[in-house]
Amino acid sequence: MNGRPIFLFNSTAQRAAVFREAFARDLPDIIFADDAATVDPDDVRYLITWKIPADLDRYRQLEVVFSIGAGVDQFDNAGLAAGISVVRMVEEGIISMMQEYVALSVLALHRDWPAYAAQQSQGVWRALPARQASERRVGFLGLGILAQAAIERLKPFGFALAGWSRSPRAIEGVESFHGAAQLPGFLARTNILVCLLPLTNETRGFLNAELFACLPQGAALVQVGRGPQLDTPALLAALDTGHLSAAVLDVTDPEPLPSDHTLWRHPKVTITPHVASVTQPHTAARAVIDNIRRHQAGQPMIGLVDRARGY
Ligand code: NDP
Ligand code: OXD
Repeated sequence: MNGRPIFLFNSTAQRAAVFREAFARDLPDIIFADDAATVDPDDVRYLITWKIPADLDRYRQLEVVFSIGAGVDQFDNAGLAAGISVVRMVEEGIISMMQEYVALSVLALHRDWPAYAAQQSQGVWRALPARQASERRVGFLGLGILAQAAIERLKPFGFALAGWSRSPRAIEGVESFHGAAQLPGFLARTNILVCLLPLTNETRGFLNAELFACLPQGAALVQVGRGPQLDTPALLAALDTGHLSAAVLDVTDPEPLPSDHTLWRHPKVTITPHVASVTQPHTAARAVIDNIRRHQAGQPMIGLVDRARGY
């Protein structure tokens, strides 16, 4: 142990290069290391990673584990000592990519893009009935950092916006619902449902037949949360009966989705391979350095996870 705290980096070499430079420039009192084999484990105070390494116990002075992504469901919190803080990634790059993806998906569904793609495959030239954005009710499951940012991007189009969260949230121009009792009312007014919930024990399997039945006929789904939140057979059944008109899925269970999975070839489903938003190294390094400074100053870190709640 030499006394200088170490920030241990466990992600791609490309990201490591950016973080190394940022730490050398902006936080020289912390040693940046990306090779766990070369460090004195007792100097490691900070770790950034996607998955918790199997040998975490060797870092006896560890204070903070940062997720390299926005989600923390991939961490086995049970294996982390109670005193270790867990911080998810809150950074401009992830936020702006999610704004793009949600805006793209909502606009595509609003303008019947999946139905026109199906018509094109049949050589059919037929205009579908058009609706104004103000007549289209978009609802967000989850009103956290990413949902709120996506909502701001959608506001100028004039959609009727609403959101549902665990605790009450007041957001200008958004009809807010919270808690189990207000879920059916929220769903009943939603034509395009965007899921931006974290994966927790409470949200696993949340997008199921019962929930879909509460949506109005012809509603559509944008799933950008986590794959295990979706009951896939229930979605396929709702699409096949016509109760749901379309689904855009960025996350699936499992990932990667096997090439022979029914979802791939369903005419009402659009799939992307978990790319809605991806951590951007320059902005992420800035966010992590800012958080370490906060931690050193005894201030709350941005994205600090409530480990009991799971997000
Ligand atoms: P936040 O923690 O900021 O927000 C989570 C929101 O979900 C909060 O509004 C919270 O309610 C609500 N919530 C959580 N549990 C429940 C529940 N049981 N009932 C009702 N509401 C609940 O998360 P982010 O916005 O930063 O991220 C959301 C998720 O997006 C991530 O966890 C990750 O899974 C996913 N993601 C997906 C990506 C992709 O590429 N597809 C990329 C990045 C993230 P309250 O406000 O009351 O706390
Ligand atoms: C994330 C993700 O959590 O990419 O950052 O899903």
